[in-house]
Amino acid sequence: MAAGKGTRLNSKRPKVLHEVGGRALLLHVIAAAKTLVPATQIFCIVGHEAVRVQAAVVSTGVHFVLQEVPRGTGHAMQVLKAQLLASGKPLPSHLLVLSGDVPLIRTETLEALCRLHIQERAAMTILTAVPQDPTGYGRVLRLTPGQTEVVAIVEQKALTPAQLATPEINSGIYCFETAALFSKLDLLSNDNTHGEFYLTDAAALLVADGQRVVALQAGSVDEVLGANTIAEMMHLDEAMRAATARRLMAQGVTIFRPDTCVIDAEVNVGPDTVIEPYVQLLGATRIGSECLIRSYSVVQHSELGNSVTVRNGCILDHAEIGDGALLGPYAHLRPESRIGVNAHVGNFCETKKTTLGRGSKANHLSYLGDAVIGEGVNIGAGVITCNYDGEHKHTTTIGDGVFVGSDSTLVAPISLGDGSYVGAGSCVTHPVPAGSLAIGRAHQITKQGWVAARRAARAAARKPEKKD
Ligand code: UD1
Ligand code: CA
Repeated sequence: MAAGKGTRLNSKRPKVLHEVGGRALLLHVIAAAKTLVPATQIFCIVGHEAVRVQAAVVSTGVHFVLQEVPRGTGHAMQVLKAQLLASGKPLPSHLLVLSGDVPLIRTETLEALCRLHIQERAAMTILTAVPQDPTGYGRVLRLTPGQTEVVAIVEQKALTPAQLATPEINSGIYCFETAALFSKLDLLSNDNTHGEFYLTDAAALLVADGQRVVALQAGSVDEVLGANTIAEMMHLDEAMRAATARRLMAQGVTIFRPDTCVIDAEVNVGPDTVIEPYVQLLGATRIGSECLIRSYSVVQHSELGNSVTVRNGCILDHAEIGDGALLGPYAHLRPESRIGVNAHVGNFCETKKTTLGRGSKANHLSYLGDAVIGEGVNIGAGVITCNYDGEHKHTTTIGDGVFVGSDSTLVAPISLGDGSYVGAGSCVTHPVPAGSLAIGRAHQITKQGWVAARRAARAAARKPEKKD
C-alpha cells in the first residue's frame, strides 16, 4: 500500500519516496516482498502522486493498482480486489499486505508471519510489536493477554481510556486468506474520526463471523516501526544505517565510530578494509578488500578495487578506481572518472570523464576533464586540460609514458604521443608527436645587472638639486 498522502510529513514529496538508508521507503518494502515472491506476484497500490511514485519503482517489475483517491487502507484493498477480479485470473489463496511506510521489515519476519498464518489456518494474521511508546499506532487487542487470538485492532483516536494502556501495536503488515478478506471489504465503514475505510476493521468483522484472527509479535521493534513524520523517518534511517554497519563489520570491515558514518543500505565492502570516522558511502558503492577510506571522504555510486587508499576529504561520484590506487587528500573524482591500477590522483585534483592509466600520477592541483591518459604518465602540478571552448567539449589524448610539466595547459582537442615531453608552463595547442618535446611558452629574457642599474637611476632622480 503506497497510495497515501503522508500529511504528517509536511512535505511535497510523497511519503513512500522519502529515503531511509539512502533508498526510498517503497523500494525497501518492494525489495523485502521480492525476497518472497517474484515481482509478477506483487501489486503496488499507488494514488497520491501516482505517476511520480510509479516512475520511481517501475524498474522493480511489480504490477500497479491505481487507487485514484486514497480513502483509507481498507479502500486500498477494495480497489485491489476490483482489479484482481477484473483481470479474470484465479485469485491467489493468500495475500501478504505490506505498508509502503514500514521499510525495515526483514524477510525472516515475513516468512515467520506467513508460516504462522498457514499453521493456524487463520483468516487474518497480524504482525505486531511492543514499542516503548505505542502512541499513534493502532493497538491489537488479544482475546486474553499472551494468547494468539485477536479480537480487534483499535486505531489510536478510537481507543477508550481503558484501552490506552494496550502496549501491543499493529505494524500494518498482515497475511489474509484472500476469500475471507474479500468477503468483508464491502462491510467496512468510514464512520470514524478520519472518515476513512480502515483495513484494521477487518479483524473484528472476521472475528464476529467466527473466523480466526491471530497475531505474531516481531522479533525486533525497529523493523516494524512506521515513518509518519520526518523525525520518525530519521530514527529509521539511523536504525537502518546501524544495521548496515553491523553487517559490514560482520564481513570483516573495520569501521571506526560507525555512528558517525553514513553508509547506505546497498553498499558493499570487502574484508580488511578500514573506514575512518565521518565517512559517507552512498548509493550502489562497492569497495574491495584491504582499502583505507580516511575521514571526511564521500564516495557515491563508485567502484573501488582492492588496496585502494582514499585519503581525507575526497569526493567520488560514479568513479571506478583500480587496485592499489591512491587518492587525495582532497581529490574530486566526478562521473566517469576511471583511475587505473596503482595510479595516483592527489591533492586538490579534479577529474571528470577521464581515464588515467595504470601507474599514472596527477599529484597536485590539476583539472583533467574529457581525457584519455595512458600508463606511466606524470601530470605535473597545476596541469589543466582545457576541454571546453564555450560550446563543445573536446578530448585530450595522452599516450603512455608522457611527462607533462607543471602548470601546462593542454588546449583540446589535442594529443600527446607516447613518451613525449611538455615543458613546464606550456600552452599546448598543436599535437605533440611521440618522443618529442613541446615547449609552448614565451622565451625568457634575462637582463644582467638590471636591478642595480634601475636602483641607481631612481636614486639619481630623487636627489634634490643644489641651491645657491
Ligand atoms: C496504519 C494502521 C495502524 C498501524 C499503522 C502501522 C490503518 C487504519 N491503520 O495506520 O493500525 O498501527 O498503520 O504503521 O490501516 N495507504 C494507501 N491508501 C490509503 C491510505 C493509506 O495505500 O487510502 C497506504 C499509505 O501510503 C501507507 C500505508 O497505507 O504506506 C499506511 O497508511 P497510513 O496512513 O500511514 O496509516 P497509519 O495511520 O500509519
Ligand atoms: Ca503509517
